[in-house]
Amino acid sequence: MLKDSFDRIHNYLRISLTDKCNLNCTYCCPVNMPKATFSRKNQMSAEEIDTIVSVFVKEGVKKIRLTGGEPLIRKDAKEIIERLSKYPVELTITTNGVYVHEFIQTFNKAGIRSVNVSLDTLKKEKNYFISQRDEFKRVTENIDLLLKNNFHVKVNVVVMKNVNDDEILDFIEWTKDRLVHVRFIEFMPFTGNQWSNKKVISHKEILELISTKYDFIKLLNDKNDTSKKYLVPNHQGTFAIISTMSEPFCSSCNRMRLTTDGKMKNCLFSKDEVDILGALRNGEDILPLIKKCVDDKQESLGGQFTPNYEITDASKINNRSMINIGG
Ligand code: 5AD
Repeated sequence: MLKDSFDRIHNYLRISLTDKCNLNCTYCCPVNMPKATFSRKNQMSAEEIDTIVSVFVKEGVKKIRLTGGEPLIRKDAKEIIERLSKYPVELTITTNGVYVHEFIQTFNKAGIRSVNVSLDTLKKEKNYFISQRDEFKRVTENIDLLLKNNFHVKVNVVVMKNVNDDEILDFIEWTKDRLVHVRFIEFMPFTGNQWSNKKVISHKEILELISTKYDFIKLLNDKNDTSKKYLVPNHQGTFAIISTMSEPFCSSCNRMRLTTDGKMKNCLFSKDEVDILGALRNGEDILPLIKKCVDDKQESLGGQFTPNYEITDASKINNRSMINIGG
């Protein structure tokens, strides 16, 4: 079992399959700086991912999420999904949705039941503005395709002031006749993403806005949930808020991350990384490294800033950009 020094059991692993993406959303991809795209040689191969995962699973990992960059653009994405489907874990994925139609069968065969799709706007033009690519139609069609195929679909919306905060009510309306779970994510600071506390719309502000038009009920949370969930009566779908900035949920954190170049991070905001892939390639036992990484986990937010986002100085945070970490 992987337990940290604050008695938190770590049984959830997020694996970035690539730091490349076919979209170019500014909140995720660094602006005006080179993207650290790793050459294939420095990337975990499908076989190496499989080997590393086998160690994590022996240590009690029960849930694995594949992330990126965009995980489905990796040439061997299907092979990786198939390999990981043999483990007794809940296998899930976060994708931008563009290639989902090519993967429905693979997901079904691998027992993937829940898919998170990132979509920050319901307007085609604004989608182009945010992602710099014209994929709105494909993504929204693929969300409907997932629903038609009975997947549990969560749609991640990064809420940014003066960008898409005017669409919060539209997203709620969208859940009326669609069994989709919209998750509003507070905008988080990463290297090169031009974060400012003035662009954050907090959990409280989102709820206040929604209450101007809708009644809603708070749903119960599971133990390690990062989101607070709500239901608007008579809506098929639900909405939730991920309040990393205004109300972090570190005390119940069970997550670990592997970047595509095989570095382990014990927190999205940790500056330290442990080179699991390098050790594996040197023939070393990786378990002690994994245990030490978990043991070194800070109590909250990677120890890099305080929960008061209003005074957070993003320039002092030492981290990778989101696309290089894996969402
Ligand atoms: N702030 C909040 N959420 C972000 N994501 C990517 N970058 C940020 C950011 N700066 C989201 C993506 C994806 C999820 C894993 O993380 O939209 O859906």
